[in-house]
Amino acid sequence: MSAGVATTERLRLEPFSLDHLDDLAAMLADPLVGATMGGVRDRAYAEERTRIHAQRWADDGFGLWAAYRIDDGAFVGRGGIQHTLLEGTDVVEVGWCLVPAQWGNGFATEMGRAGLELGWNDLGLDEIVAFTQPFNAASLAVMHRLRMSYLRDAVHADLPHVVYSVRRAS
Ligand SMILES: CC(C)(COP(=O)(O)OP(=O)(O)OC[C@H]1O[C@@H](n2cnc3c(N)ncnc32)[C@H](O)[C@@H]1OP(=O)(O)O)[C@@H](O)C(=O)NCCC(=O)NCCS
Repeated sequence: MSAGVATTERLRLEPFSLDHLDDLAAMLADPLVGATMGGVRDRAYAEERTRIHAQRWADDGFGLWAAYRIDDGAFVGRGGIQHTLLEGTDVVEVGWCLVPAQWGNGFATEMGRAGLELGWNDLGLDEIVAFTQPFNAASLAVMHRLRMSYLRDAVHADLPHVVYSVRRAS
């Protein structure tokens, strides 16, 4: 796994760019996704996020991916690792957000694992965190599948979150 376009067993992972805006906008406009992502989002929000994701790649050399199924080309979602600020501290987080039609296939875990491998093997990171609102059982389940452990509570985007972490070679 190296930074840039990557593949896993079932996914093609592309560095986020404006090419992915339509897919991201459709996903973030879905009420099922909005239920755990701060509400349904409009296209302007999706465009702002897309520009931020692309800038992370430009600044850091890695960032979130847009994921597509290798077998039929369908858009799966957004995920991977990126720098982010958590309560004022720079951390590298691993994250996932899938279109509902692709839930229940293990794709979030597959993308998350690809992000962790990139972090350990190519970027030499020592720790990667993930955080979510405490009621987001599906996201917590992904963290457990990736062998992440509870670290602490935190406030992010003015909302209570739980922070999980995993260290290299643990
Ligand atoms: C959080 C989210 C990404 C989890 O998606 P998910 O599909 O449940 O998670 P995974 O990709 O790890 O898939 C796991 C499920 O696929 C099943 N699965 C099927 N085939 C599989 C395979 N080949 N490999 C692994 N798991 C497989 C697992 O059994 C598991 O099912 P279960 O939940 O019934 O136990 C999804 O609910 C989502 O996008 N939510 C909205 C956005 C969001 O909240 N993001 C997180 C913000 S912090």
